[in-house]
Amino acid sequence: ESEEEAGQEYLFKIVLIGDSAVGKSNLLSRFARNEFDTNTKATIGVEFQTQAVEIEGKEVKAQIWDTAGQERFRAVTSAYYRGAVGALVVYDISRKATFESVKRWLEELTKHERVSIYLNGDFEFYHLRYHIGRRKARLRMDAHCDTTMARMLVGNKCDLENIREVSVEEGKSLAEAEGLFFMETSALEATNVQTAFEIVIREIY
Ligand code: GTP
Ligand code: MG
Repeated sequence: ESEEEAGQEYLFKIVLIGDSAVGKSNLLSRFARNEFDTNTKATIGVEFQTQAVEIEGKEVKAQIWDTAGQERFRAVTSAYYRGAVGALVVYDISRKATFESVKRWLEELTKHERVSIYLNGDFEFYHLRYHIGRRKARLRMDAHCDTTMARMLVGNKCDLENIREVSVEEGKSLAEAEGLFFMETSALEATNVQTAFEIVIREIY
């Protein structure tokens, strides 16, 4: 590793998306502060939080953008996908409709053309165009669901086994078809939350 690289710090932007009330804000608060709130208010617009993670002896900073799932914020929040190198697409295993929305959230994500990796937190280091002209990109997406973004499908609230509406198999097979990582989590019981974020961060790194 060069001298230049040694002192560097990496900052990655990751977005949390999915329908309202699937538990995005609680996944983030569980990950960042080990907190859970049974009375969370719906997120308005976007909020972000920076969390340091150590990977292979290096400190990596993940800037995690928690977006509002409510329909009325859609136009605002999608503007924040720009520059994201990772995404967690969240549904609620106890509400089928939130799983059925996943495809739409993925489409929103792939509309965004540029990937940026920020260095030292303040200036843009690298700009990579992964759409070589819209048409080509779309063809590629359709064929392989391929983007340079590290994406994970997250089935949250796996503590609600007794009212489950989406099976583990359904989650897995959608993830496989779309080329995503997959994990079921519970922000309430702190199941797999750390792991889910870390897999995405590691993949980017
Ligand atoms: P928006 O901000 O509107 O997009 O919603 P959100 O996805 O951020 O959901 P939020 O984190 O606010 O959680 C919604 C509700 O689900 C809250 O009442 C949480 O307490 C609850 N919740 C979140 N995660 C879990 C979980 O893992 N298990 C259970 N049982 N409830 C959860
Ligand atoms: Mg929220």
